[in-house]
Amino acid sequence: MPNYQWRRAVPDDVPHIAEISSIALAGYPEEPAIFHELLALAPGGCFVMEMDGVIVGYLVGHPWMKGRPPALNQTIGTLPERPDCWYLHDLSLLEEARGFGAAREAVQLAAEAARAAGLDDVALVAVNGAGGFWRAQGFEPLEPQAGPDGIASYGDDAIYMERRA
Ligand SMILES: CC(C)(COP(=O)(O)OP(=O)(O)OC[C@H]1O[C@@H](n2cnc3c(N)ncnc32)[C@H](O)[C@@H]1OP(=O)(O)O)[C@@H](O)C(=O)NCCC(=O)NCCS
Repeated sequence: MPNYQWRRAVPDDVPHIAEISSIALAGYPEEPAIFHELLALAPGGCFVMEMDGVIVGYLVGHPWMKGRPPALNQTIGTLPERPDCWYLHDLSLLEEARGFGAAREAVQLAAEAARAAGLDDVALVAVNGAGGFWRAQGFEPLEPQAGPDGIASYGDDAIYMERRA
């Protein structure tokens, strides 16, 4: 088992997060500004995975509203006044960090962050063929509520999903 840990992200981690995103989620490009904003708005929802001291993965999330996934690669401005879910914006690992349960742990971190924020549900948009992974973590597909704008930006195979935190 490799030597790894998840830790809270700090602003200096953003270049690494953006680079991992550009590799692991190449079809869903997001600017570093997106990650800087999320880290500023919800520092308790942003984590990086270090393996032997090198950042090899990240988890980003924040309080949000069910059924209304933010559009890809767009800043959100502020958090909602009355959030009703935790939005798991992204979980991505480099190849060498996959396959030994670190992603499953990250889902637990997201659920803990949700509960710490007083939120009972976690929502996300599954892309990149990751629907099976999210199903294995207890997420179920649902129709987004607020029109197709947000989810449409993720492409045709995007699936909106939720589970209890
Ligand atoms: C999706 C991703 C985070 C999963 O990471 P991982 O290291 O393979 O996941 P883990 O080893 O923690 O696996 C956890 C469990 O999910 C299962 N799993 C992983 N990928 C799966 C898949 N595609 N379909 C079904 N189950 C899957 C594992 O078998 C494991 O099951 P277990 O709990 O019974 O042992 C990783 O593949 C990744 O970073 N992909 C590129 C970025 C990406 O697509 N992110 C998701 C965007 S929505």
